[in-house]
Amino acid sequence: MQEVLSMVYLWLKAGHVIFVIFWMAGLFMLPRFFVYHQEAEAGSPEEARWIDRENKLLKIILLPSIIIVWLLGLALAGSIGAFAQGWFHAKLLLVLLLSGYHGYLSAYARKLARGERPLAGKKLRLLNEVPGVAAAIIVVLVIVKPF
Ligand code: HEM
Repeated sequence: MQEVLSMVYLWLKAGHVIFVIFWMAGLFMLPRFFVYHQEAEAGSPEEARWIDRENKLLKIILLPSIIIVWLLGLALAGSIGAFAQGWFHAKLLLVLLLSGYHGYLSAYARKLARGERPLAGKKLRLLNEVPGVAAAIIVVLVIVKPF
């Protein structure tokens, strides 16, 4: 029985990491799409194509990934009693910030679709550092478990 539970845990963890990769890939791609989108002429067929690509990335990759990462992550946390561990509190905080960043990007895509362009290309490129730094710290927390 113990062996079966360990196997289930490992499969859940594999699923978690797979969908973490999809989620992160989407979070890296979307601001890039915004940069190209903002270089297209407002109202042009080129802009319409970018709106379509952004919507597809949000609905087909990002939304299912964030849901599965959270569900599997919470299942893993419940089964190892992570809620009482320091590294997990820090990870949870970062993951909440990353989820907020996801929400911000999704709102930004809606603004772009309405014809607004709130940030300059340079700022959008800088924004791309956010998920990279967060992911690096999260991976250290979850593997090294420094506290
Ligand atoms: C969304 C909420 C998340 C929750 C609740 C969560 C929770 C967990 C838990 C409890 C584990 C098992 C740790 C262990 O077996 O020692 C785990 C593993 C892992 N998580 Fe998450 N996680 C989340 C999101 C993320 C994100 C965003 C990343 C990376 C950017 C990530 C990367 C990993 C990695 C690499 C592992 C495997 C570590 C190992 O080798 O044991 N997780 N996660």
